[in-house]
Amino acid sequence: NWNMGNFLTQQIEKIKQTVKDKRVIGAVSGGVDSSVVAVLMNKAIGDRFVGVFVNTGLLRKNEPEYVLNLFKKLNVNIRYEDASELFLERLKGIEDPEKKRKIIGHTFIDVFAKIAKEYNNAEFLAQGTLYPDIIESVSVKGPSATIKSHHNVGGLPKDLNFKLIEPLRELFKDEVRQLGRQLGIDEEFINRHPFPGPGLAIRIIGKITKERLKILREADAILIEEIKKANIYNDIWQAFAVLLPVSSVGVMGDKRTYENVLAIRAVDSVDGMTANFSKIDYELLGKISSRIINEVEGINRVVYDISSKPPATIEWE
Ligand code: XMP
Repeated sequence: NWNMGNFLTQQIEKIKQTVKDKRVIGAVSGGVDSSVVAVLMNKAIGDRFVGVFVNTGLLRKNEPEYVLNLFKKLNVNIRYEDASELFLERLKGIEDPEKKRKIIGHTFIDVFAKIAKEYNNAEFLAQGTLYPDIIESVSVKGPSATIKSHHNVGGLPKDLNFKLIEPLRELFKDEVRQLGRQLGIDEEFINRHPFPGPGLAIRIIGKITKERLKILREADAILIEEIKKANIYNDIWQAFAVLLPVSSVGVMGDKRTYENVLAIRAVDSVDGMTANFSKIDYELLGKISSRIINEVEGINRVVYDISSKPPATIEWE
């Protein structure tokens, strides 16, 4: 007789039996899946689990504080590493989306491996792999070209010699959310939109700089704030801003401006595999646009992306 309560009890028991008195390490990204794993591990083995949270410098506004605070409230042992400078250094001048992904993936592994050495008596690595991740990673290895090299599956180094623990590998996203609720994680956190591993790097088209990251962070924060205020956040699969490598002419007071164009992307989807652009009310779009243009220095034009997937993808890179 399958239900989430039973599943939880069984998983905790299974983790205890597997881990015994050893230690477990795991990466936490701030996403729902890795967070549910972290809380689950904590319930099973307490402080013998340590979640590694790496600041890539590519996170959204206030994200590190938000995530650290969440785990503090949940009493989960977290090792925080600010590696922003290293990531930004390695990404300097890079424009190609796949190169960005590869650099970020490799840098993440380097940082994680270094931290893992501090915990060299940890025998296990916990990962938030879901059932659809397994299916998708099998299919992208086929003869057809990889569309995007998502690197959240099996992304951590095998040569670190950890044994893998993947307690969510039989679950779908909605079941992970249910499990998260059962574990006492805030509803607000459970309902967060997905956020890609490479972060804002693939939402700044072209070269990534600190200045451009700041512009995008501010704009994205306004977009999300307005969408939440309008009470449509939970109806949307994903909403975000994309900073384009295009400047346009504008007028501010009696002065000519020549600044960045920002695109807003919002989609409705069930699983991220296909998506339609969200039919956000024009009034709201107008409000978001004027707030961004007025409040974010460096943007003088906002456009709305009306493409569906396929043939477009959800992210721009
Ligand atoms: P696309 O852009 O392929 O996105 O339509 C589908 C979903 O996957 C997310 N995404 C990623 N997630 N690493 C991730 O962990 C990545 O490299 C990556 N690229 C896209 C995207 O945000 C959407 O939810």
